[in-house]
Amino acid sequence: MPASEPILEVSGLVKHYPLTQGILFKKQVGAVKAVDGVDFALGQGETLGIVGESGCGKSTVAKMLVNLERPTAGQIKYKGEDVTKLSGRALKAVRRNIQMVFQDPYTSLNPRMTVGDIIGEPYEIHPEVAPKGDRRRRVQDLLDVVGLNPEYINRYPHQFSGGQRQRIGIARGLALRPEIIVADEPVSALDVSVQAQVVNLLDSLQNEFDLSYVFIAHDLSIVRHISDRVGVMYLGRIVEIGTDEEIYEHPTHPYTQALLSAVPVPDPEAREHRERIILSGDVPSPANIPSGCRFRTRCWKAQERCALEVPELAVPAVLRIGEKTPAQHDSACFFAEEKHVVPTE
Ligand SMILES: Nc1ncnc2c1ncn2[C@@H]1O[C@H](COP(=O)(O)OP(=O)(O)OP(=O)(O)O)[C@@H](O)[C@H]1O
Ligand code: SF4
Ligand SMILES: [Mg+2]
Repeated sequence: MPASEPILEVSGLVKHYPLTQGILFKKQVGAVKAVDGVDFALGQGETLGIVGESGCGKSTVAKMLVNLERPTAGQIKYKGEDVTKLSGRALKAVRRNIQMVFQDPYTSLNPRMTVGDIIGEPYEIHPEVAPKGDRRRRVQDLLDVVGLNPEYINRYPHQFSGGQRQRIGIARGLALRPEIIVADEPVSALDVSVQAQVVNLLDSLQNEFDLSYVFIAHDLSIVRHISDRVGVMYLGRIVEIGTDEEIYEHPTHPYTQALLSAVPVPDPEAREHRERIILSGDVPSPANIPSGCRFRTRCWKAQERCALEVPELAVPAVLRIGEKTPAQHDSACFFAEEKHVVPTE
């Protein structure tokens, strides 16, 4: 649970894409279970990192949060109100407060629009936020806020570097003064050398504008610096969630431990002493999810029970003994145990 009052509460979130057969008479023969029961809460002013391998459903969760996709089932409560039930004006008002920053600054900006038009585009949908005569000044302020020269307002995306383009994407995300930003791998497409600058920018904007973030990444090392809590996703579900200390220093789920063991370690001595956990096999298809624990086909600790029962995301019974320790956080594993993997810093 977040330390502050939740601004967003997600429960039982599901997105299944039907798999059909036939051309004229389409028959549903199955479903791609892109997101298959996700629960989390985002605290006011908090950053929740969501991490997992390619295809585990991170972008689908992001799209549902900003209403680009409609959930198959589940709730998304914004300040206590289920936004999946809203429509018309009420939905529009909520959407204004939850904005997205996209992964790829090369393809997410229209090459034929000036930067001023790109950043000011949200005002066309929400003219009440900035009257027409005031928009140019607002856009220039936003350029300044993200560290770009306000005089660049008439330039085109190709005249900027990757890092600068992502700053433009962030300025657009801020235009409507949202309360929540969902950043879907905002630095994955950037050079390593500029990734930290963009993460630092997001960090400082959070304080300045009192923002809450859902920050998605496939690498545990990127979210560490910015996240208060981290959720680890596998095949459409969160398998472990906790504060950054709980996840990085006291991971209890075998999948998190394997991901952590693969994070690059800058210190050569620490690198030498660390144990790499190599997972066997590939991630199963989300159209064919294993019974019981969905991680069991790659888990080195799997036992018979793992194929028969689904472990819930809660403090595991085996760890619920004695005084409260950092290992006592939510982890969807019957045989959870703390394992110290060499830290990422
Ligand atoms: N519109 C769609 N129709 C059918 N399947 C889809 C659709 N969108 C996504 N999927 C499938 O859902 C699963 C989850 O996709 P998603 O894009 O959410 O993953 P991701 O975690 O964001 O991956 P990446 O790290 O590659 O961005 C994938 O198997 C993907 O192929
Ligand atoms: S429940 Fe079983 S298969 Fe799943 S992570 Fe735990 S030990 Fe592995
Ligand atoms: Mg994605």
